[in-house]
Amino acid sequence: MKDRLNREINYMRLSVTDRCNLRCFYCRPVEDKEFIPPEEILSYDEFLKLIQVAIELGITRFRLTGGEPLLRPGIDEFIAQIKSLSGIDDLALTTNGLLLEENLDKLWQAGLRRINISLDTLDEKKYGAITGSYSLRQVLRAIKMAIEKGFHPVKINVVLLKGINENIDDFINLAYELPLHIRFIELMSFSSSNSYFLSAEKVLQMVKKKGQLKLIKLPGSGPARYYQLPGMKGSLGFITPYSDHFCATCNRLRVSARGELRTCLFSNETYDLKFFLRTKTSTHEIKNFLQTILSHKPMSWHQLHGKRKRENMRQIGG
Ligand code: GTP
Ligand code: 5AD
Ligand code: SF4
Repeated sequence: MKDRLNREINYMRLSVTDRCNLRCFYCRPVEDKEFIPPEEILSYDEFLKLIQVAIELGITRFRLTGGEPLLRPGIDEFIAQIKSLSGIDDLALTTNGLLLEENLDKLWQAGLRRINISLDTLDEKKYGAITGSYSLRQVLRAIKMAIEKGFHPVKINVVLLKGINENIDDFINLAYELPLHIRFIELMSFSSSNSYFLSAEKVLQMVKKKGQLKLIKLPGSGPARYYQLPGMKGSLGFITPYSDHFCATCNRLRVSARGELRTCLFSNETYDLKFFLRTKTSTHEIKNFLQTILSHKPMSWHQLHGKRKRENMRQIGG
């Protein structure tokens, strides 16, 4: 399925819940308290109906996000159901890792093979300050277990925060030690945390001084660019929506837990899919609707900047 700018749209991100068991200050500040009422959250059957339509339209890559997706009961069975559909090339999950250790076996049995874990620091005190929780060791244990179990590639998402995690030496060491792909993400301005913005390009320049960087390719659907320093088991990735935006190659659509479709992460405009999924709308009509929406996918978020309503990643799905 192509959009009006000839971009191949083959990736759908589905947020299965807006709830989270962490409070990363840039995503879920203390004043952020409202959750979507349960009756408004899409059921797994509704998601499956949507996934089927998406497959028919040529979307073959799916990611489950949150909030924290492992908080939703039955997520493993949902994964198994998605995996049983034909036409899926890639299914992955983004988690904060808190509940990963206890869910790893179930996720593996359900057929999941790819996990991205959000972890902004390897320092216990800083982890506590960023997330409001002291569970760093638990997350690190789960990451190691995921590698041992055979999940591949295992990626880590590090949101760059000025004055907090500017020094990435310990992450670099970790990528030498383990086959971990550590991605540094520019903080996107969804809340009042803009003053922490740190350019990933600046961090990349710093990494370049450490040795000859080799650009590598990794399985995945997102916008990261990955590099390896000599002898590294893993890699260092960069997601640069500001310093080098990737809108020209955008391949994705996003669906929130309440069934709102977004054609751009930064867009305020949402399209209510729940209505279609809960009424007797035919698959054919839903397909037509999705195709029409695609004609409104913006060329770039620069067109939209400044007009966004205040929603955090946990509500949008990352
Ligand atoms: P892979 O399939 O492993 O490449 O996953 P991914 O990077 O698409 O997924 P993940 O959920 O790990 O997202 C990592 C970060 O990239 C999140 O902060 C996303 O919001 C950000 N990201 C993904 N797509 C876009 C996009 O279209 N625009 C912007 N600005 N950020 C994006
Ligand atoms: N800017 C950049 N990344 C963010 N995430 C959450 N909020 C932001 C933000 N404002 C990241 C999480 C997770 C991914 C899905 O999105 O850390 O790794
Ligand atoms: Fe939860 Fe992820 Fe938001 Fe942190 S960034 S509060 S882990 S949804």
